Amino acid sequence: MERSLSAYWDWVARTSFHLRQDRPSVTDIFYRQIVLSLINQLTSSNARRILKLDAYNEATNTQYGFYMIGDDRELVLVDISAGIAKRAAERANTKKLYNRAHIIVGDFRHLPLRSECVDMSCSFGSIEHVPEYDVAFYEQVRVVRDGGEVVVGVPNIANLWFRVLSAKILHLLGLMKKMTNPEKHFLRPQLIALAKSLGLSRVVFSGYHLFPKQLRWLDLWLDSRGRNPLRRSGFFFWLLKGFTLLELKYPFTRNFAEMIIVRGVRVVGRDRGRRSIEDAATGISLLKQST
Ligand SMILES: C[S@@+](CC[C@H](N)C(=O)[O-])C[C@H]1O[C@@H](n2cnc3c(N)ncnc32)[C@H](O)[C@@H]1O
Repeated sequence: MERSLSAYWDWVARTSFHLRQDRPSVTDIFYRQIVLSLINQLTSSNARRILKLDAYNEATNTQYGFYMIGDDRELVLVDISAGIAKRAAERANTKKLYNRAHIIVGDFRHLPLRSECVDMSCSFGSIEHVPEYDVAFYEQVRVVRDGGEVVVGVPNIANLWFRVLSAKILHLLGLMKKMTNPEKHFLRPQLIALAKSLGLSRVVFSGYHLFPKQLRWLDLWLDSRGRNPLRRSGFFFWLLKGFTLLELKYPFTRNFAEMIIVRGVRVVGRDRGRRSIEDAATGISLLKQST
């Protein structure tokens, strides 16, 4: 595990307001509703054991993973930060999910899981946080059983609200340091090509979170200051609701959302790209250690 990366995320766990926030913000609720609806549309419901990369959502208030497992599934989360994993475990305990949420401290470029051990793997805004995002994607494929689904969501270059530019400016100003490291953004063809190169079949593409990311940042920033007038603003609520209805009702609008996402099915023996991605990973000696 790369020490500086885990040290950075542990520092975020100690210093970020977001991880101490005790109740969901307005945007948290819309974020979650949209992701759960999308997962319902993109995947079948027969996955019993689900792997989700990173425990940040569960350590904060979107908590996609906890909602995805309903009453009868199991969740495995892998996060490089012991601090973030601990926070997610505390929230799992509060929700009485301690026997169905397994939280592992590990590097998702080298998952500490054997091959084909989960029914489905997913990530929503995780792999773009490391330069070896392709290795992390490969790892998500490796651990899924034959016929299981792999879902990967990453930031969208073609976002209507210029997410890539706004994030760059905030990073340059040093305003994001306590929350996140710089992320890679992707175009639709890049993400689809990556999924296919890893041997996934029946690849489908979509997007999520159409409302401006700038509103999300504003909402969290105001919460961190202790007084957030957006919590009681009917205008803000209906604005978010309007964008949410738009993306749920008109799927083509998702092409311009903040995030793009692919879902593919793993067919063992057909993972043609495995060789090349292993070769790529060999260069950074990550996969060699994991296989
Ligand atoms: C910005 S947060 C993710 C945000 C979240 N998925 C979302 O979209 O709201 C990045 C998370 O990934 C974790 N992380 C970053 N690099 C990692 C790695 N190589 N292996 C495992 N976890 C990692 C961090 O500890 C942190 O919890």
